[in-house]
Amino acid sequence: MQSIKLFRPALSLRCTRPASSSISRAFLSKTTSRYYAAENTDRLKGPVPADSKMQAIKNTIAENLGKIVPGAHELAPEGSRFSLEEVPDLTGKVAVVTGGSEGIGYGCTHTLLKHNISKLFIISIGEDVAADAIKAIREEMGDEAANKVEWINCDLSDWEATGQTALKIAQKTDRIDILINDAARGIMTYQLSKSGVDLHMAINHFGHVVLTSHLLPILKKTADNGNTVRIVNLGSNIHENSPKDTKFESLDELNTDIGPQPLYGRSKLAVILHAKYLARHVTPQHPNLLVNATHPGIVETRQSTEHIHEAYPLLGYGMSVLMNPFKKNQFQGCVSTMFAATKTEKSGRYITPPAIVEQGSDKANDALLGEQLMDLTVKIIKEKTKASSVDKGCPFKTY
Ligand SMILES: NC(=O)c1ccc[n+]([C@@H]2O[C@H](COP(=O)([O-])OP(=O)(O)OC[C@H]3O[C@@H](n4cnc5c(N)ncnc54)[C@H](OP(=O)(O)O)[C@@H]3O)[C@@H](O)[C@H]2O)c1
Repeated sequence: MQSIKLFRPALSLRCTRPASSSISRAFLSKTTSRYYAAENTDRLKGPVPADSKMQAIKNTIAENLGKIVPGAHELAPEGSRFSLEEVPDLTGKVAVVTGGSEGIGYGCTHTLLKHNISKLFIISIGEDVAADAIKAIREEMGDEAANKVEWINCDLSDWEATGQTALKIAQKTDRIDILINDAARGIMTYQLSKSGVDLHMAINHFGHVVLTSHLLPILKKTADNGNTVRIVNLGSNIHENSPKDTKFESLDELNTDIGPQPLYGRSKLAVILHAKYLARHVTPQHPNLLVNATHPGIVETRQSTEHIHEAYPLLGYGMSVLMNPFKKNQFQGCVSTMFAATKTEKSGRYITPPAIVEQGSDKANDALLGEQLMDLTVKIIKEKTKASSVDKGCPFKTY
């Protein structure tokens, strides 16, 4: 049943049991089978000790579930707990949040402002959505907080506009302490961007690579001045749904319609690989610059309530309605990202809620695949922006 497949990757990294015919049975079987992946790299070795099994189940609940389990985050092991109250004072710091006007991104925006961030740039498309977000901040936190927000309209699938947006931001501030790459096309059908690239990859991965690369000089400068700078790429456990033969070898590979979930999953694999790539190439030279990827849990946002119906008009109701009692709200959903954006001292991790470091899939840990992805990324961006950017001297570099 297609709708059950939708939940599988988010609830369990690797399922060892057949799909159940009811959502509740599927949910239970996936959570209880999680420990094979959580503790054993070799599944044939047999079950892990009971304590670890129990902790793996607790971790799964902590990572994914919200409303139905009050205090779910408290189930995480000590040392992997985090709450929004623990976000430090951010006075003097500057942040950029893509998709910061709604959903999990708004959870981030709200939290950063609550903790006194001095300046916040939001990048998204919907002007009315952004206006609503700023109005809500004004009503709740007052003019001073709302006036710290600068919304910039930019479609991340338009890489020239994205590069220009980054340069515009870099001209308006002399530091950036936090970059949260949150915006995304969710589980939706195959479409091509204006430049002829799969839209999931064009927005979720390529757009954020262009943005991050153009902001890297100021991010590095901020870090080298003695500040801890944190970049966070929003991944998803659905990266596990990337096709087994994903190689990131060619544009033709990217432009093959593999179905809504694998398209989304592959783009999320790419953003995790990008975070690890930056951690490998940038953090050693700039030890104060940390780059991590996160999974937010299953969160009630437009992606999981509306966009899902574009891909699955009827079966999407499993995700949008039946899963509703289990989903987190956007504030619970931003906890792992806030940990990665304000607290962690590590780089190159995949962090799930509240602050649990997970291994992720084998592909997400494949450094060669990450290099291959980034080689292809540079090649495609250069080809697609040649006349408008490269030939005009755009110094595009990934690190
Ligand atoms: N919700 C979940 O359960 C879940 C689970 C795992 C991972 N995630 C990840 O968490 C992140 C946030 O998701 P969400 O659920 O909060 O989604 P959401 O509520 O749909 O918000 C997505 C944001 O991205 C912006 N955006 C989309 N396309 C864009 C584009 N081409 N250019 C610029 N901005 C664009 C949207 O703004 P406009 O529409 O105004 O452009 C919106 O602000 C995503 O990376 C998602 O993959 C979510």
